Amino acid sequence: MAKGLEQGDSAPNEAHIAVHWREEQYIYPSPKFVGQAYLSDPAVNERFSMDKFPECFREYADLLSWDKYWHTTLDTSNAPFWKWFVGGRLNASYNCVDRHLEKYKNKAALIFVPEPEDEPIIALTYQELYNRVNEVAAMLRDFAGLKTGDRVTFHLPMTLELPITMLACARLGVIHSQVFGGFSGEACGMRAADSGSRVLVTMDGYYRSGRLIDHKANADVAVQVAKEQGQEIDKVLVWRRFRDKPASAAPMVKGRDYFVDEVLKEYVGRKVEPESMPAEAPLFLMYTSGTTGRPKGCQHSTGGYLAYVAGTSKYIQDIHPEDVYWCMADIGWITGHSYIVYGPLALAATSVIYEGVPTWPDAGRPWRIAERLNVNIFHTSPTSIRMLRKAGPEEPKKYNYHFKHMTTVGEPIEPEVWQWYYEVIGKGEAVIVDTWWQTENGGFLCSTKPAIDPMKPGSAGPAVPGIYPVIYDEEHNEIPAGSNRAGNICIRNPWPGIFQTIWGDPDRYVAQYYKKYNRDPKSKDWRDWPYFAGDGAMQASDGYYRILGRVDDVINVAGHRLGTKELESACLMVAEVAEAAVVPVVDDLRGRMPEVYVALKPGVKPSKHVEEKIVHSIETTIGKIARPKSVRIVPDMPKTRSGKIMRRILAAISNTMDIGDTTTLLNPDIVEEIRQMVQGKERLATKAGPEDIRRFGEET
Ligand code: WT7
Repeated sequence: MAKGLEQGDSAPNEAHIAVHWREEQYIYPSPKFVGQAYLSDPAVNERFSMDKFPECFREYADLLSWDKYWHTTLDTSNAPFWKWFVGGRLNASYNCVDRHLEKYKNKAALIFVPEPEDEPIIALTYQELYNRVNEVAAMLRDFAGLKTGDRVTFHLPMTLELPITMLACARLGVIHSQVFGGFSGEACGMRAADSGSRVLVTMDGYYRSGRLIDHKANADVAVQVAKEQGQEIDKVLVWRRFRDKPASAAPMVKGRDYFVDEVLKEYVGRKVEPESMPAEAPLFLMYTSGTTGRPKGCQHSTGGYLAYVAGTSKYIQDIHPEDVYWCMADIGWITGHSYIVYGPLALAATSVIYEGVPTWPDAGRPWRIAERLNVNIFHTSPTSIRMLRKAGPEEPKKYNYHFKHMTTVGEPIEPEVWQWYYEVIGKGEAVIVDTWWQTENGGFLCSTKPAIDPMKPGSAGPAVPGIYPVIYDEEHNEIPAGSNRAGNICIRNPWPGIFQTIWGDPDRYVAQYYKKYNRDPKSKDWRDWPYFAGDGAMQASDGYYRILGRVDDVINVAGHRLGTKELESACLMVAEVAEAAVVPVVDDLRGRMPEVYVALKPGVKPSKHVEEKIVHSIETTIGKIARPKSVRIVPDMPKTRSGKIMRRILAAISNTMDIGDTTTLLNPDIVEEIRQMVQGKERLATKAGPEDIRRFGEET
């Protein structure tokens, strides 16, 4: 234990404090769950052992229907640009739709639950999904002129039209790039430009918290912003929320904007042959935030990705065709792509899509949906669990539903919140998997195998089959299990779901994810290219991983990444602002929230008006999800002698943590001044604080 102590430190260092948590008791899955589970034979560990890599992943690839079987499981000749199942050809839409028709054509593929409770629920059978995907594919090809390899940006809310349009693209080999519907038009336009999309697919409106949102207006901004970036969007295809009334006041631009339902009249009953795509052809882009301002378009493959999400949906989510599966994530995030659409549909599942917010109109809503639809597999984030607990701690008990399986994803879950999930939402009957992974990863990396490994609240569990994590310190030494020390979690080996590159920026792909621990940049051996995830973690002696949060300038808000640089540049767009620094602050419900510090230009007086302008700028450039917890206008920023803003100190102040030594700063006095502004005159007792905040914005 405690390497630091051996070296003669008497006081425990910060890393020790941060990682001292109580070991939780194991909780075992019920015999009923184990009895029906797809994966209950521990021999899986043997089948996916390191010496069977990469051939072990044949098992996942064999869940798919291939037009042409592949010859090389993993090609590492252009490391770290991995190629999986080389030589193989397949179509993702065929695999998620057509091949299920024989057995399941009358089974619900997707069930749409509108937010207004008096609107009817819509179940779409596999047959009807097939019809609609074909018609939309015909329209995208013949009306919008899209062809294999083109990119198309979606800015769609949670509706059936989103997976239908995704699958229509997949049918043509067109690369879709869905931007989270809650992001602003500007954020959408930037991403559309980056991907080189000339077609934007959107919807006129949707419901959120009881309000009908005018969404089409965002498309007009997106087209304008894309144009400023040099990307012409010549067609905007607008799905309509209602057939009998408009959901948006924004006018349609003649020759550019088209209502999809009107265009589709020409394509009724049309069929489109699924394009036989190489396994390595890109299936979609998913943008995510990084340490620099520009969002990264993570490029995911067709064969490797689909095999990986099918395999993990089957073994970790335990989705059988007869189950009713509901993941509350938004399809605009990777969780929705992998575990609402592609994974479940590849397995012929029934997947529920809910339009609105979980607590609308009250905290009983999810449980009414679960009861009515007989949902038996449930998937959500710690943030939603915390919100549901706060709004209705006794609500789940009032409803007659029974989950066999539940997932948590997106951020660390506190053991106490985990217990409530287990006891109250799960009624002590459902097994829980805490799944750790990222947009870049395609699918789960760490999780218990639900019928094999016991649960341990607050731990993501061991790695999933075929994944070999390792924790390195800054000097590339392995930190062993049970050492009680934290480090950077990496994955030793590539896996089929890993993204292929950052769209248009292969150098950044290598620099950000592989350079840190690469042993030889010329090596073609995957063993020399551990994947750097950017999360701090530690491994208990039983092999379970506990994820401690980001080690870079990324804030995980409600389970989603926001780059501080993106937020800061939004602040700097306000004319009065001279300098901006954004730091994470712990929030009871959302995990973390951004807190903004700004210094104003000489002569500008602090005012509510300036604060409001800053919040507005963040909301319009990124979206409401990025709304800061507070805006602090300070006289100056704490800076190093070389003039760098010390974000770590601001984060310590925001979170009442130990500020540390400030004597070497350019302007040490400002620290106490800011502390008093934020915390008040009295010195509050400082806390050790979580790992991701302790290290936040550290100068390296
Ligand atoms: C970051 C990835 C892919 C899921 C949705 C978020 C954090 C994710 C867990 C978990 C602790 C988690 C990590 C990761 N994270 N799952 N089970 N326990 N932390 O995707 O936006 O790409 O964010 O979310 O910090 O790096 P994302």
